[in-house]
Amino acid sequence: MNIVAISGSLRKNSFNTALVRSLQALAPEGMTISIADLSTIPLYNQDDEIEFPAAAKAFKATLEAADGIIIATPEYNRSIPGVLNNAIDWASRPYGKNSFARKPVLLMGVSVGKIGTAVAQSHLRHILSYLDANVIGQPELYLGPAHDIFDEEGNLTDTSTKDYLAKALETLKSRAA
Ligand SMILES: Cc1cc2nc3c(=O)[nH]c(=O)nc-3n(C[C@H](O)[C@H](O)[C@H](O)COP(=O)(O)O)c2cc1C
Repeated sequence: MNIVAISGSLRKNSFNTALVRSLQALAPEGMTISIADLSTIPLYNQDDEIEFPAAAKAFKATLEAADGIIIATPEYNRSIPGVLNNAIDWASRPYGKNSFARKPVLLMGVSVGKIGTAVAQSHLRHILSYLDANVIGQPELYLGPAHDIFDEEGNLTDTSTKDYLAKALETLKSRAA
């Protein structure tokens, strides 16, 4: 089973990118998790749909080839980062060729704040439901505060968070089968 994981942060020491990396070691048997790179995707411009930019085209192809998708989003100003929204806009186009349609999607996010991306993920659910994605309702993964669950090198060290994530990956596995 081929799962693609997306981090909504471009920051080198991003907790959300560290989170998707940590999933690779927690994946159940038979599941491979690869990480998509949003850094090369240009800003969406409808004029460019005539000839999709290579990075946007590659991102769509990655989603379409995947059995399921994981999105780890930071919360920016109580919503999702523009970088993530931009990538989703590209993947949703051209009209009628939305790459999220019917894909099982597991959401998660880690924040330095105490409510751990709950508002951002709620916005993201709204977008993905419009895009007809098969978004997993439970478990909800509002993780953090980041400094309590990662060490200084960005390794996920909190055992209960690891257990919770491993169970969530099992749910994704059953949904994507
Ligand atoms: C523009 C901006 C807005 C932010 N807004 C929120 C917010 O609304 N809620 C929150 O919990 N954290 C907020 N933060 C703090 C992020 O949780 C923190 O920067 C986090 O580390 C970002 O994720 P990353 O480590 O994956 O880059 C904000 C950070 C930035 C840069």
